[in-house]
Amino acid sequence: MERIMITGALGQIGSELVGKMRSIYGNDNVLATDIRQTADQSGPFEILDVTDAQRMHDLAKDFGADTMVHMAALLSATAEEKPLLAWNLNMGGLVNALEASRELGMQFFTPSSIGAFGPSTPKNNTPQDTLQRPTTMYGVNKVAGELLCDYYHTKFGVDTRGVRFPGLISNVAQPGGGTTDYAVDIYYKAIEQGSYTSYIAEGTYMDMMYMPDALQAIVDLMEADPAKLIHRNAFNVTAMSFEPEQIAASIRKHIPDFKMSYAVDPARQEIADSWPDSIDASAAKSEWGFKASYDLDAMTFDMLEKLKKKLQLV
Ligand SMILES: NC(=O)c1ccc[n+]([C@@H]2O[C@H](COP(=O)([O-])OP(=O)(O)OC[C@H]3O[C@@H](n4cnc5c(N)ncnc54)[C@H](O)[C@@H]3O)[C@@H](O)[C@H]2O)c1
Repeated sequence: MERIMITGALGQIGSELVGKMRSIYGNDNVLATDIRQTADQSGPFEILDVTDAQRMHDLAKDFGADTMVHMAALLSATAEEKPLLAWNLNMGGLVNALEASRELGMQFFTPSSIGAFGPSTPKNNTPQDTLQRPTTMYGVNKVAGELLCDYYHTKFGVDTRGVRFPGLISNVAQPGGGTTDYAVDIYYKAIEQGSYTSYIAEGTYMDMMYMPDALQAIVDLMEADPAKLIHRNAFNVTAMSFEPEQIAASIRKHIPDFKMSYAVDPARQEIADSWPDSIDASAAKSEWGFKASYDLDAMTFDMLEKLKKKLQLV
């Protein structure tokens, strides 16, 4: 991994991954691309719509990229509102990125999601290899994407790698329309208003991870010895599993008067109910040494500190 091109680089993950990769591999060696413009000038940036296969190929070739990190996608809640757009962007963008990687000999990374599981998947300690019959368009895209990445590896020898991310919590870019977004919003509202109304019902467990652990996981998997990888794509990774009351309790350790109420959104609740309560990350741990450093309380402490500064309240 020496010359890296990132798609969807202005999203929740990309906006922090670009900085992390520039700090490791050098500012000029990481090409950020997105369909929208940015004011960030820390390194090269190009406008790219990932459904434009030719431009994607040309940008990667001109940059001399040896690695493609494909992040552009429509997330779970938005994909349910616009299923056809989700299919075209999530599948069209992915196959274009895989084709460019095949043609130019690039190493390849893209994230799958806990959304690749469905109601018939074992709900607790969900195994790495298990039943995947998701009921959302996002889930259909993610399962197809996992299989497509495996196919490009076995059929064409492309060095494809990937993880199934849980809900990611971060304090830089706002999340982009996922089902777990409440677990980011709650920290902003706790600081700004001292209260939060959750659209996810009490008692709904989902896996989550703090962004620094997610970024490290990407670097670690991409740098891992390929001889040790049995799965290559779609590794289960997670740092914690909690329900809304538990994140509220963690916040109350710092903001004792914090109040939580509920106005459940049936659409997002239905998606959440179809996902596992907790997943088993043992394959990622044994094959490439995945580990997460933040638990719920460590993440809450850091989120509140960083957001208070960001919102200029200290
Ligand atoms: N954030 C999470 O909690 C999470 C969890 C599991 C998996 N993932 C996966 O990680 C990847 C990145 O997620 P994210 O949270 O950063 O998403 P995001 O929605 O925050 O960002 C997506 C980015 O893609 C860009 N984009 C949209 N359409 C585009 C197009 N046609 N061409 C180029 N760029 C386009 C958007 O402008 C945006 O900057 C996705 O594959 C997502 O499914 C994310």
